[in-house]
Amino acid sequence: MSIPLSIKWEGKQLIILDQQKLPHEIVYIKLETLKDVYEAIITLKVRGAPAIGITAAYGLAMEAQNYKTNSMIDFLEILEKDATYLGKSRPTAVNLVWALKRLLKVASHMDNVLIAKELLVKEAMRIHKEDEESCQNIGEFALSLFEDKTKVMTICNAGSIATAKYGTALAPFHLGKERGKEFEVFACETRPVFQGGRLTVWELQQSGVDVTLITDSMAAHTIGAKGIEAIIVGADRIAKNGDTANKIGTLNLAILASVYGIPFYVAAPSSTFDLSINNGEEIPIEERKAEEIIIINDKAIAPVNTKVFNPAFDVTPSKYISAIITEKGIIYPNYSENISTQLAVSNEKEKIYEN
Ligand code: MRU
Repeated sequence: MSIPLSIKWEGKQLIILDQQKLPHEIVYIKLETLKDVYEAIITLKVRGAPAIGITAAYGLAMEAQNYKTNSMIDFLEILEKDATYLGKSRPTAVNLVWALKRLLKVASHMDNVLIAKELLVKEAMRIHKEDEESCQNIGEFALSLFEDKTKVMTICNAGSIATAKYGTALAPFHLGKERGKEFEVFACETRPVFQGGRLTVWELQQSGVDVTLITDSMAAHTIGAKGIEAIIVGADRIAKNGDTANKIGTLNLAILASVYGIPFYVAAPSSTFDLSINNGEEIPIEERKAEEIIIINDKAIAPVNTKVFNPAFDVTPSKYISAIITEKGIIYPNYSENISTQLAVSNEKEKIYEN
């Protein structure tokens, strides 16, 4: 039994688990060009907010090694162009632009192209390592909220393969397993592309966590019938007031949690907070191709010309969120005050570290 990993940096090569092929095949593929990285992100070979950020960071650092200039001005110009290209691959998960901006910032402080190339790789590796540490801390804090044998519902995959390791929403289940604390996890299959059924069920089975699959429409009934005690989800972007974008269907679960009187937790690292926006209305919601809804396993399940609305995410108003579990600690309402205070402390620390 082991926790699966989705991103590997081996001998200066970027290798990812092709999540499109799960659960039938466990295939790792090498991404060699910026276009490979862009395609892997947009086609969900690699997905999940932190994993997208890490992959993009490696992709940009890797591409920068090929720039044929000794001028730092030219180097930065090409780097920015490539970062803009990668940054457009998926609009909702803020970790993507957050990671790319970190690389641009590192390069902007350099006056030598060779050193800049080296430091970009180091920064991508640092982002990767920090995310693993963050997820482990999120798991520790989340574990403190749950009794042994708690029945918990989740949606999508906010697990190890959506991050560097452990995951966010799934971190307490992996860590709990290592410590002998058991959970009963109920995974919503997560239409349209089944991140719950294909990925979460597979991932939790890999580490021996007790997981039961339901369809998204069974959530309300299951909460009552199985006595679900809490819901935990990941996040793609959290606004200053706590409004949270996550996989489509999350909002339904948040409303259900409120009606049934059970806690609704969001688990996310500080890289998922976007303090430049005041509330969820400002979060861009990705809309994806109609085929994702109409075609399953190469077969049409509706007339092929059907008019389709396919938003990949929804926004849960912060009033439905019982707590946000971060690597720094658990944030409770009032979010408008507490998020800024808690994250401002961490920003302050980072500033000192930079100097
Ligand atoms: O479209 P996806 O599969 O990238 O959506 C992923 C999610 O919504 C996750 O819950 C979120 O990115 C957090 S992953 C730790």
